[in-house]
Amino acid sequence: MAHISDLIATDIEAYLKAHEHKSLLRFITCGSVDDGKSTLIGRLLYESKMLFEDQLAAIEADSKKYGTQGDSIDFALLVDGLAAEREQGITIDVAYRFFSTDKRKFIVADTPGHEQYTRNMVTGASTADAAILMVDARKGVLTQTRRHSFLASLLGIRHIVVAINKMDLVDYDETVFDRIVKDYRAFATEIGLEAITFIPMSAFKGDNIVSLSENMPWHQGTTLMSYLETVEIDESRMQKNPFRLPVQWVNRPSLDFRGFTGTITSGIVYPGDRIRVQPSGRESRIARIVTCDGDISKAVMGQSITVTLEDEIDISRGDVISLAESPAEIADQFETTIVWMHDEPLLPGRPYLMKIGTVTTNATITDIKYQINVNTLEHTAAKTLELNAIGTCNISLDRQIAFDKYDENRETGGFILIDKLNNSTVGAGMIHFALRRSQNIHIQHVDVNKGARSRIKGQKACVLWFTGLSGAGKSTIANLVEKKLHAMGRHTYLLDGDNIRHGLNKDLGFTDADRVENIRRVAEVAKLMVDAGLVVITAFISPFRSERKMARDLLQEGEFIEIFIDTPLEVAEKRDVKGLYKKARRGELKNFTGIDSPYESPEQPEHRINTTRLSAEQAADQVISIMNVRGYV
Ligand code: ADX
Repeated sequence: MAHISDLIATDIEAYLKAHEHKSLLRFITCGSVDDGKSTLIGRLLYESKMLFEDQLAAIEADSKKYGTQGDSIDFALLVDGLAAEREQGITIDVAYRFFSTDKRKFIVADTPGHEQYTRNMVTGASTADAAILMVDARKGVLTQTRRHSFLASLLGIRHIVVAINKMDLVDYDETVFDRIVKDYRAFATEIGLEAITFIPMSAFKGDNIVSLSENMPWHQGTTLMSYLETVEIDESRMQKNPFRLPVQWVNRPSLDFRGFTGTITSGIVYPGDRIRVQPSGRESRIARIVTCDGDISKAVMGQSITVTLEDEIDISRGDVISLAESPAEIADQFETTIVWMHDEPLLPGRPYLMKIGTVTTNATITDIKYQINVNTLEHTAAKTLELNAIGTCNISLDRQIAFDKYDENRETGGFILIDKLNNSTVGAGMIHFALRRSQNIHIQHVDVNKGARSRIKGQKACVLWFTGLSGAGKSTIANLVEKKLHAMGRHTYLLDGDNIRHGLNKDLGFTDADRVENIRRVAEVAKLMVDAGLVVITAFISPFRSERKMARDLLQEGEFIEIFIDTPLEVAEKRDVKGLYKKARRGELKNFTGIDSPYESPEQPEHRINTTRLSAEQAADQVISIMNVRGYV
């Protein structure tokens, strides 16, 4: 059976085209099935005649079957039925449904309500103009209501409707409504939510949905539908913002045509407008605006266009074309709010990918300034952010980007964070402002460089990165390797875990976050030493793939040689040179690698040493011969 409310993208486009003259309101509904959310969405679809006859018949039959009272139709059956279907598909967590009335067309993002679905709410809310927060009249304002409200405010949703539902179950009692309004207002003021509309309703019975309810003559406000039909749409505001076109791709079908394609994220553009390409800063004028229907004389936010410029300038994917007189800002370090969406916590210092507009770049959280308790709004100190946590964080990129503050432009100020190893979305964020230092610190050019420094030593600088469990034999082998290289007249330096942790890293312990920072610093130091022309040997457990990859990525191709000291846990534990395994087993040492802290084995190390078959001496000789083969010594 075809579900009109679950049409695929192309159908949505066709549908929207048919209703082109009407304005489009995007909104989200927040709450759980228990609050009546599904019933409400079903009701809206029904009232706007968006249900097919056959669907209606099916629901009516189901409603009877499941013993719904009287002649009411249980709309939740429809929406939940779709949800179940959706779950089989797994990929979509947020269902977009649409309907229209004579006045407007609507897209509603139906986001699952349970606490751990922050991620879905963030996805659904990022383009929404309004949010309907469902409150069960019998239960009042709950933790979940606060959480959703806070997220809505954080995501910049300007219009909030508090739908106080199930009024039929509290005898349409005005005092119940008043109390909830009072509770909610107290909270809303704290988080700076402004435009709030309260509507007492029964989605099940249809009170105050499309017509004012006779059961609640005391309600002075509007119905939900007339609210949705008249609330101001963000788009009109966005069009007042300056023009931004993040370039999706460079379109060059022939030698005499070079266009830049993308979707306008804010503002309006006309041929002849003076533009600036960012971050490079070069300027030109718009020559033509081309669409699949030919040239046009004006384009606005939301339109996909190709522009050509009067001058030949270098533009690539990820650049932003802005109005020259009000360009975006440029920076590589920001203060942001981050909503963490992954089971594995955010770890400062770990490299992630940031996707903002059409740019994807390396990003590291340099500092979690504080975490925000969504229930109390308290700011607390945090070293990591767990699933669903929200924090104010500084973030640093490895390139300059064009951006706007999120408050001013959700598209050019909002971003997502992606795990570099498995490509999943782990967080979403909003830029507050650029850190001033990012605009004031520049790379200083030096004349004596890495090549010159290593040439004078007659060697090729590199890092031999030993990794493996505690007690695997890293330090012993690394020490022998250095001795041998030294005897060969090489200039070396050995960075060893236990030693570095007495000095540079004495402030760090063994939590995941501290280990990430430990390796980040060591990797930076190793990079400096390679720059100094040395053969650097590091001996750290370095348990995480991400950080070993970070160290590798800091260096040039061929400069990073990963050596996995592959000693099984049982063997390392049996040796237990420092007695630490015994302590860990007795529970006297927490977070011990291999016991209650993970070790992620290298997948493709340059070399693997099995210490159960080789002596330390033999292992060191193997390393030297590998360096020989690869031309390092
Ligand atoms: S890493 O995980 O951050 O790379 P690093 O190599 O610097 O660790 O330090 C590991 C050394 O610290 C071990 O060889 C051991 O002597 C000591 N140590 C003390 N506590 C722990 C612990 N909880 N887990 C692992 N090693 C520990």
